[in-house]
Amino acid sequence: MTGQDPQTVEIDTSKPHPARMYDWFLGGKDNYPVDEQMAKQLLALDSRGRDMARVNRAFMHRATRWLAESGVRQFLDIGSGIPTEPNLHQIAQRTAPDARVVYCDNDPIVLAHAAALLRSTPEGATEYIQADARRPDAILEAAGKTLAFDQPIALSLLALLHFVDDEDGAAELVDRLVERLPSGSYLVLSHTTGDFDPEGAAKARAMYKARGMTLRPRSRAELTAFFHGLELVEPGVSLSADWRPELGEVIDVAGVDPIPGYAGVARKR
Ligand SMILES: C[S@@+](CC[C@H](N)C(=O)[O-])C[C@H]1O[C@@H](n2cnc3c(N)ncnc32)[C@H](O)[C@@H]1O
Repeated sequence: MTGQDPQTVEIDTSKPHPARMYDWFLGGKDNYPVDEQMAKQLLALDSRGRDMARVNRAFMHRATRWLAESGVRQFLDIGSGIPTEPNLHQIAQRTAPDARVVYCDNDPIVLAHAAALLRSTPEGATEYIQADARRPDAILEAAGKTLAFDQPIALSLLALLHFVDDEDGAAELVDRLVERLPSGSYLVLSHTTGDFDPEGAAKARAMYKARGMTLRPRSRAELTAFFHGLELVEPGVSLSADWRPELGEVIDVAGVDPIPGYAGVARKR
């Protein structure tokens, strides 16, 4: 494990955290009243918050399985979240037992779970880095102890970039990470959007801002721009639910409106 000592972790229960709210949406137990309260306020804007989290998670399952079946054996997952079974390493290692996975998050509660997460996998196959995505060089250096940067790596930033504003370097951090990946690597992104309800998205953004947090929904074109210079694999940037549903779990969702999240996978030449 790289970064802060898990023994010294302090959980701030006075304000909501994205990792813990997401855990609440997924039906987990690693959240506090303050997280539940904000999650419920978000549900008042769009009652399908749980569906959004499940659809995003199902995309991770399908994309990871597809990558492992395509021969990828190294995974770097930044903004990994509180462990939720099946985790990315479990999906990858089911197809490719020799797959190596490095997780990274900046939330203390994720660090608090990291030791147990790492125990669930053969020694040395999975690593956890406590770091901020806005410091890509520190992540790359730490990941280099587990991953070989001369072999393809699947870099996933799933439901992460909407917590990083443009002026905080969202595009720059993606570019820096991708620059260091060898040829044959992949970038995997999923992201919330306000394309279908701009007013609701603006209200959600204001709700985060009022608590000192960032939420930056992006359009399909804005998400696509993160993939510049890479070859998008079929079907390109699509609704998360529509990315290769034939590969596995598809979540039945309420209503006819699309679940407002996009996803895509692209290969570095
Ligand atoms: C919505 S969760 C997504 C979890 C997982 N990637 C998934 O898609 O199921 C977003 C995660 O990103 C993490 N995160 C947000 N901003 C971050 C940053 N600047 N650096 C590292 N992690 C961050 C949060 O702590 C949280 O665990």
